[in-house]
Amino acid sequence: MESISDIHVLRETRRDWQMQNKVIGFVPTMGNLHNGHLQLVREAKAQCDIVVVSIFVNPMQFGANEDLDAYPRTLEADKEKLATLNVDVVFTPTISQMYPRGLEQQTFVEVPGISSMICGASRPGHFRGVATIVCKLFNMVQPNKAFFGQKDFQQLRVIKLMVQDLSMNLEVYGVPTEREVDGLAMSSRNGYLNAEQRCLAPQLYKVMTALKKEIEEGRRQDYPALSQEYCSKLDAAGFKTDYVEIRNASTLQQPSVEDSELVILIAAFVGKTRLIDNIQVQR
Ligand code: PAF
Repeated sequence: MESISDIHVLRETRRDWQMQNKVIGFVPTMGNLHNGHLQLVREAKAQCDIVVVSIFVNPMQFGANEDLDAYPRTLEADKEKLATLNVDVVFTPTISQMYPRGLEQQTFVEVPGISSMICGASRPGHFRGVATIVCKLFNMVQPNKAFFGQKDFQQLRVIKLMVQDLSMNLEVYGVPTEREVDGLAMSSRNGYLNAEQRCLAPQLYKVMTALKKEIEEGRRQDYPALSQEYCSKLDAAGFKTDYVEIRNASTLQQPSVEDSELVILIAAFVGKTRLIDNIQVQR
């Protein structure tokens, strides 16, 4: 596995692959890799000739009240995991290469509408930061295919819309969420949980699947009331719930009673750790 941090070196390497007509797969990450990330890599390996994984903790997607400095950085362990999966290149650009004029002066990409709802309402500017960095990484790696986790459901929608709106020449794939045996969605943030919080965390999945069942059974279609009820259930279980949303799975707008493809999106704090999860529902 080659480790590249210089954009020019990456571009030269990429030129060789292009001359050999290789299909290039790309998995962007912020490091601290867990099995969810590795599943994205496995999917990329299955579909592509060459796989590039980037590791870059992107300051632009962190809010002022979110602790960028505390974000776990585990580069050597991450590289070992990627090497065992025969990743071709791990790309680790520096902050000054990514944002040479500083964050304030940086041209940005913003996908309107979807970026300011749900998680975007709780984390203003977050999806602008994600869209901007992913756009820059796409321009550097120029992949044929890029792989993202469905766990970040809204992020995946934002990226797919960006690719469509900006006529980018690549396919974006959403890979199903990897879960621990007790149902907790794999996330770098799980590492922040103490033993007691770790015991509580899987309740998020249990409550979410109970809500899914209730919607699928079709007995109740008053989605705002259902959301409110399940927010209260999570609060009663010990979470500080940010939102429980039932949305149209493709637009993420409030669903009408005719909509059949829905998604439940949940964000809730366990102590100071904000966990998110989602599940698709067919009515
Ligand atoms: O999902 C993530 O880890 C990040 O949001 C991403 C897509 C790597 C952009 O920084």
